[in-house]
Amino acid sequence: MQINLEKEGLRKDPGGLLVVFQFAGKGIDIKRIPGAEGEIAESLLKKIELLSFAGKAGQDVVFPLLKKTGFDEVVLVGLGEKRGDLSPALREATGHAFHIARRAGHKKITVRIPGKDLAKDEYVEAITVAAHLANYAFDAYKKSNGEKRAEELTIEVPEGASLTKLRTAALKAEIVADGVTVARDLVNTPAEIITPSRLALLAEELVKASGDTLALTILDKADCEKLGMGAYLAVGKGSDEPLKFIHLAYTSPRKTKKTVAVIGKGVTFDSGGLSLKPADAMMTMKCDMAGAAAVLGLFATLNRLKPRVNVHGIIPAVENMPSGKAIRPGDIVKAMSGKTVEILNTDAEGRLTLADAMTYTREKIAPDVMIDLATLTGACMVALGEEIAGVMTNDRALAGKILKSAKTAGEKMWELPLEERYKTLTHSDIADLRNIPTTRYGGALMGGLFLEEFAEGKPWAHLDIAGPAFAERPIASYLGKGGTGYGVRTLVEYLQSIE
Ligand code: BES
Ligand code: ZN
Ligand code: ZN
Repeated sequence: MQINLEKEGLRKDPGGLLVVFQFAGKGIDIKRIPGAEGEIAESLLKKIELLSFAGKAGQDVVFPLLKKTGFDEVVLVGLGEKRGDLSPALREATGHAFHIARRAGHKKITVRIPGKDLAKDEYVEAITVAAHLANYAFDAYKKSNGEKRAEELTIEVPEGASLTKLRTAALKAEIVADGVTVARDLVNTPAEIITPSRLALLAEELVKASGDTLALTILDKADCEKLGMGAYLAVGKGSDEPLKFIHLAYTSPRKTKKTVAVIGKGVTFDSGGLSLKPADAMMTMKCDMAGAAAVLGLFATLNRLKPRVNVHGIIPAVENMPSGKAIRPGDIVKAMSGKTVEILNTDAEGRLTLADAMTYTREKIAPDVMIDLATLTGACMVALGEEIAGVMTNDRALAGKILKSAKTAGEKMWELPLEERYKTLTHSDIADLRNIPTTRYGGALMGGLFLEEFAEGKPWAHLDIAGPAFAERPIASYLGKGGTGYGVRTLVEYLQSIE
């Protein structure tokens, strides 16, 4: 979808759908609807009254074709109260408008920024990102491929706003949205296609597309054996698909001393292994590489956004399958850090892959900060529901920064504690650790506490994205079912906030 920024009302015959945002409690200024004069204005006001439209979030009124305005249809969309940060309201209202456009088959959409005070970078970004995400459809496997999408969005800004500045903001937002789309497509594509080898190939393609300014190392099984990655290797034993340990690196062209490593869980399919999942729980397990997808989505943006920080992306890609070669409950493995782990449930595989990825990251990269993203536990969904990710960290300052970035980016996140006293629950009688705790409570924290053993005190944050990474029902007006690309927006925001 093409994005344009224009001064309000200057285009001749723009066509398509005009979206006019309306705050609640402000009184309806009917003059903002083009062509609304005299009797027409009266009938429009009548319709607004009949539908009890008051500018509340989720409300809309669609008006019939007003030919002389040059648009085919006009819709008033409620924004809710004009209070505080308006980005969430603008995202929701934009998503809402796109639903209306899709239903009516409009290919061209015009959105008017409601007031000069709102002609700000962050609001243009909010609208642009939400529009792109709302316009997404995973229809590669459908006969109607491509039919649903709008082709053009024009954001009209009031007189007096700087078009050049706002155009830059829109461009940045488009890059971020492209990254999210990369991640969504990866999550939505079946696991038969998105194997560890395919993820490695996609990483290679990203490097090529970057004009070779990104660097890439891919380790195969033999390389990982040499490094002693016993935990990660154990997960791959049951699969016929070879595992691939992917290491991407972006070196900032701007002056920086900071290095951040982002680690994504890349279990391309999680059957549970010999601790096989029930059929219902397995249905969505192509999404178990959503952390990896977020890392690849992020790397698709870095070369274009050029944040002032060096970034490493680590993906221990592997498929978790049952077979005669698979790891068994009760087996003990030695992780790269030297710690031994008793594997009591082969379905708690994510933490095994991440444990070795974290050790590799500490030893080979030694970044200032390490952040992992993982669809790690169903328990995190029990705790926080489907829309909110859990964040656990050993560093207070990092907690604040990540939560702030998530809020700005519009991704929901909540901190969970790494309670000191719970630590022993992940300790084994016969090995250093066990991969499932000795309690059935607090599963999300137990995952975090297990991983903390491999951070060895280095600043680290763990994002459990099991809920929001894959939407079984829409998680926002602009984020429909399937892969959501969760994490890309927060990571971009966080990296760009680093000075
Ligand atoms: N990939 C799953 C977690 C998951 C569940 C992600 C639902 C997305 C949606 C993970 O590998 C897993 O199976 N975790 C187990 C851990 C348990 C055995 C300690 C779980 O959550 O049941
Ligand atoms: Zn599992
Ligand atoms: Zn898993």
